[in-house]
Amino acid sequence: MATISELLAQGLALRNVSDTAKLDAELLLAFVLGKPRSYLFAWPEREPGVAEVSHYRALLARRLAGEPVAHLIGSREFWSLPLMVDASTLIPRPETERLVELALQCTDRMTVAASRQQVRVLDLGTGTGAIAMALASERPAWKLVGVEQEPAALALAKRNRAALALGNVELVQSNWFAALPRGERFHTIVSNPPYIDADDPHLQEGDVRFEPRSALVAADRGLADIAHIVRAAPAYLEPGGWLLLEHGATQGDAVRSLLTGSGYSSVQTWRDYGDRERVTGGRRGQQTEDHSDDE
Ligand SMILES: C[S@@+](CC[C@H](N)C(=O)[O-])C[C@H]1O[C@@H](n2cnc3c(N)ncnc32)[C@H](O)[C@@H]1O
Repeated sequence: MATISELLAQGLALRNVSDTAKLDAELLLAFVLGKPRSYLFAWPEREPGVAEVSHYRALLARRLAGEPVAHLIGSREFWSLPLMVDASTLIPRPETERLVELALQCTDRMTVAASRQQVRVLDLGTGTGAIAMALASERPAWKLVGVEQEPAALALAKRNRAALALGNVELVQSNWFAALPRGERFHTIVSNPPYIDADDPHLQEGDVRFEPRSALVAADRGLADIAHIVRAAPAYLEPGGWLLLEHGATQGDAVRSLLTGSGYSSVQTWRDYGDRERVTGGRRGQQTEDHSDDE
């Protein structure tokens, strides 16, 4: 029989397909054993049973074939929250935590003066619910609305909301703003929408091969959904409210132009911890055009 440390050593074969081979093997073995990762380091000489070893080896084989660890174990941590994950939507990425930080900062600053009003934040394309759940857990007094088009992804977000017992998140099936009541206003709107060009070679690499195109790809060089959200958002923003959008590292210029062209103020781009332009936002200004009749 093999010990835990021998099984982890076998997992290093994942180096051929993964930059995080050691972590991947640890996550898979901990999952199979139904234990936290710390158990592996506390009991390296333990010998898992035959069924557990064969389950682990089967998962290693699937990982070697490229399947994302998050799909194999059905979960991914985001903002220190354990989120259920499946093939209906994006696996939450660490880069998106930057959008959560900025939404907290921008919303806190703008709502200090209006503190008697309940803060309302909209998350467009909520997927697993990652952004909405992170904000809801940080600010229990805020009201979060998460919108998602794909029924299976919406069901997943609802399971995450229940597992995390977050009572301040509403989840709505909608094509962007279409199902939201006219006149509903938010202090901040956040979105990590599809923004990859259909011909981008990155779509043939790594985890994205196993994620749905509906979560990844947008027309017009990846900018179509962002452009739609920029045009439609002012009708759903409080005056001075923030629209914050995650985008690809080379799209900052284009997203700033879209926001400026639609009359937003304080337009700016923030970089992620890899120093790439990653989030661009602006505030609904006096001159912001209201396209609510275009919907
Ligand atoms: C890049 S994923 C982001 C998921 C999640 N917010 C995150 O950051 O991990 C984009 C999400 O937008 C959803 N989506 C795509 N088009 C949409 C539309 N027209 N209306 C609402 N949601 C949409 C996709 O199904 C997907 O769940």
